Amino acid sequence: MIMSSSTGIQPANTPAPDFTPLEIISPTDPAFFPPRKSGATSVASLSTEPLEKVRVAIIGLRRGISLLKGTLAGDHNLVTVVCDLRQDRCQEALELIKAKGQPEPVVIQGDENAWEAILTRDDVDAVVIASPWNTHVPMAVATMKAGKHALLEVSAAVSVKECWELVDTSEQTQRHCIMLENCCYGESEMLVLNMVRQGVFGEITHGEAAYIHDLRSMLFKLGSEGDWRREYHKLYNGNLYPTHGLGPIAQYMGINRGDQFKYLVSMSSPQIGLSKYRNEHQPNEGRHADERYVTGDMNTSLIQTTLGRSIMIQHDIISPRPYSRLNMLSGTDATFMGYPDRLLLDHPEKYGIMLVENPDEESHDWLPEKDFEKIKEEFKHPLIKRLENKAKDGGHGGMDTVMMIRHLECIKNGETPDSTVYDAAAWSSILQLSTQSVANGSAPVFIPDFTRGEYKNLKPL
Ligand SMILES: NC(=O)c1ccc[n+]([C@@H]2O[C@H](COP(=O)([O-])OP(=O)(O)OC[C@H]3O[C@@H](n4cnc5c(N)ncnc54)[C@H](O)[C@@H]3O)[C@@H](O)[C@H]2O)c1
Repeated sequence: MIMSSSTGIQPANTPAPDFTPLEIISPTDPAFFPPRKSGATSVASLSTEPLEKVRVAIIGLRRGISLLKGTLAGDHNLVTVVCDLRQDRCQEALELIKAKGQPEPVVIQGDENAWEAILTRDDVDAVVIASPWNTHVPMAVATMKAGKHALLEVSAAVSVKECWELVDTSEQTQRHCIMLENCCYGESEMLVLNMVRQGVFGEITHGEAAYIHDLRSMLFKLGSEGDWRREYHKLYNGNLYPTHGLGPIAQYMGINRGDQFKYLVSMSSPQIGLSKYRNEHQPNEGRHADERYVTGDMNTSLIQTTLGRSIMIQHDIISPRPYSRLNMLSGTDATFMGYPDRLLLDHPEKYGIMLVENPDEESHDWLPEKDFEKIKEEFKHPLIKRLENKAKDGGHGGMDTVMMIRHLECIKNGETPDSTVYDAAAWSSILQLSTQSVANGSAPVFIPDFTRGEYKNLKPL
């Protein structure tokens, strides 16, 4: 079913955002901190009408297949529509839904704007958007305007202007706009979150986050993100994919709920690895020979928060090195470091672990494996305990399933989800802001407070 286009989605290899990296948005510029739209109200504690079942449409059925499986794992979710440009991907989704014993969904397969048929359907409560980056904001805005909740893949938006569009629309329509940051639902991340909430870290001072994932071959793979993601490497020099590492750290620190990002400084290494790979491999019969890339192989940014904490965040999808999101957090009483997971407790005796004779002496070592296992058991997040059985076959070690069940449960119960549009905006805004700092000799760049000051009075969920 193909309808005429009102949102005018462009093909995926046409990156939509229109910002000039050199131009830093000043905090006094209305583009940085626009007034709330008339009739709009905060969605930080939004509760919506409870639903018996959550009827879900899914757009984009490559990454969307894992989100579909996560959705089908929830007892109260019904997938009523699947949509993709490709027939084979729609077919795969259809078969998964049938195998689960759910009624056959409507399949929308057509051009870039065929998804708009979802907007007028009365059998859809929430739309999952798992298509390329340039489609996220137009699809999410139209979804919310049609009275449905939007759940969109990372990054939610590419530019700060787009981030404000999401915030304004969610506030105007009182619909949820949830970014599907699955890394917030990893077992390690949920363990650290639980330890933070129970005071194990004391006062939190510093965190480190990253997306380090060698994606060189994928960037040239046809029929995958390679069809469009490489385009961003021709345009922007900064952190192109900030949310996987940053989301969990922001939740540990209560960003948007008690603390807030204030400003960042950012620096990139030279771009060498992607063109070297292209030159050596001549992918796709050499058709990329003339492409010029500008994204530095490694980008490092430092964020200062309003409570004075620091966050280091890196992006490197080019260098040959093992996968890591760093996932490091330190406070006055403990330090955690991921990849592999390690924990140091300043006073392990508080947890029945005796490592040194005099507990007043500092410990310089990570906890021994058996003691760490004991802590992991003690602080395992209740959500993981409840869902680990359902999640064990889910994507990305189960975190996709935990995430989908959890977000859709919140929508079913009419509760505020774990992350709101303010988180989607704040975490995603680092893309444009890091490019601006890099282009200006690592100058400090302010980060908008998308809650418009409300963060001071909000408590972590
Ligand atoms: N959270 C994660 O772990 C994770 C992993 C992979 C990708 N992602 C994110 O998921 C999103 C999609 O990535 P991907 O790897 O699946 O990309 P992809 O290019 O491999 O697949 C995108 C799919 O969307 C379809 N599509 C494109 N435009 C469409 C339109 N206008 N209407 C309907 N369908 C359309 C394509 O046909 C394709 O099947 C991106 O935002 C990406 O960053 C997240």
